[in-house]
Amino acid sequence: MKTRALGKSGFEVSEIGLGCWQLGNDFGPVEDEEATKILQTATGEGIHFFDTADVYGGGLSEERIGQWRKTLSKPPIIATKVGRNGELYPNGYSKVKVKQSLQASAKRLGVEAIDLAQLHCVPRDVLFSGDILAWMEDLKQEGVIKHFGASVEMLDEAMFCCEHAELASLQILFNVFRQDAVDSLLPLAEKNDVGIIVRLPLASGLLTGKMGLNHTFNAHDHRSYNKDGAAFHVGETFNGIPFEKGVVLVEALKEKLPEDQNILDVSLRWILDQPQVSSIIAGASRSSQVMRNAAASNLPPLSKELHSLLADFYRAEVRNEIRGGI
Ligand SMILES: NC(=O)c1ccc[n+]([C@@H]2O[C@H](COP(=O)([O-])OP(=O)(O)OC[C@H]3O[C@@H](n4cnc5c(N)ncnc54)[C@H](OP(=O)(O)O)[C@@H]3O)[C@@H](O)[C@H]2O)c1
Repeated sequence: MKTRALGKSGFEVSEIGLGCWQLGNDFGPVEDEEATKILQTATGEGIHFFDTADVYGGGLSEERIGQWRKTLSKPPIIATKVGRNGELYPNGYSKVKVKQSLQASAKRLGVEAIDLAQLHCVPRDVLFSGDILAWMEDLKQEGVIKHFGASVEMLDEAMFCCEHAELASLQILFNVFRQDAVDSLLPLAEKNDVGIIVRLPLASGLLTGKMGLNHTFNAHDHRSYNKDGAAFHVGETFNGIPFEKGVVLVEALKEKLPEDQNILDVSLRWILDQPQVSSIIAGASRSSQVMRNAAASNLPPLSKELHSLLADFYRAEVRNEIRGGI
């Protein structure tokens, strides 16, 4: 597993990380035994960067990570998030409550100070007021957190955060079906030494190529109840693309790929080929998926021709299908 610098944090993170939303049972139930196996497999594959949030399973994801962390001799780097629990979202934000939320996360994770605390898609007006970023700076001074970053929905929010002097990282929606950051955000992030953490690298699983039109999802899976954005931002589920359209687009892209390339590896490798990316936090609901995704670190870069094909396909076929803005 290769590592990369995470912006100003000074952390070296595995270029494939683990997204732990699944450990909150938000993609359907994951039994305790499988959850532990997912985390253990990640460590075995050299993954030592984990992304979670206080709201994943109402704290379950953080608790599972905290329990497992106790068994390790070398501590991993754990990033969590703040800003979407019922105390704060949508309009209860205060420095005291943000601090309390982070302290509760630290307790569940079993750490003194949180390695990386990310603002969790806070409302635009809250973000753009700038106060909440200043509070994070204070909380870093106070030792509640070691570093802070932001997870955002929109590119303009990312560009705004990127200008904040102490912001270590940005977590963005970025994949072969959402490429706009390549020309806008990534150069700015590099200039300002902000590490890019990529979520939804596989567009919620669409880009694995395993989903057909008849694929069904558990009722407790956000891919069932949020596929059209009924519960939270539509972009967080299938990248904002209507599911059936997404399946058709994936099949069309598969047809265009060289015979020796499969869409899952191409999707992960395309992201790793962007040097400004620090880590891909691929989500996994099974340990076998962790192993497969970790292997992308050892794949060679994609050819120039394949990069051009993917850029053309995105512009011509995909971009206009994304709902919720970019
Ligand atoms: N607002 C935010 O800050 C925010 C929002 C969304 C996500 N995130 C973070 O980003 C992480 C990644 O995003 P995501 O999990 O939503 O999307 P993702 O990584 O694009 O997709 C994950 C899903 O893809 C499938 N998958 C992954 N690897 C596979 C493999 N090798 N073979 C077959 N299927 C595979 C699994 O689906 P099945 O479960 O169906 O097998 C898995 O649940 C999350 O876990 C979370 O930590 C943050």
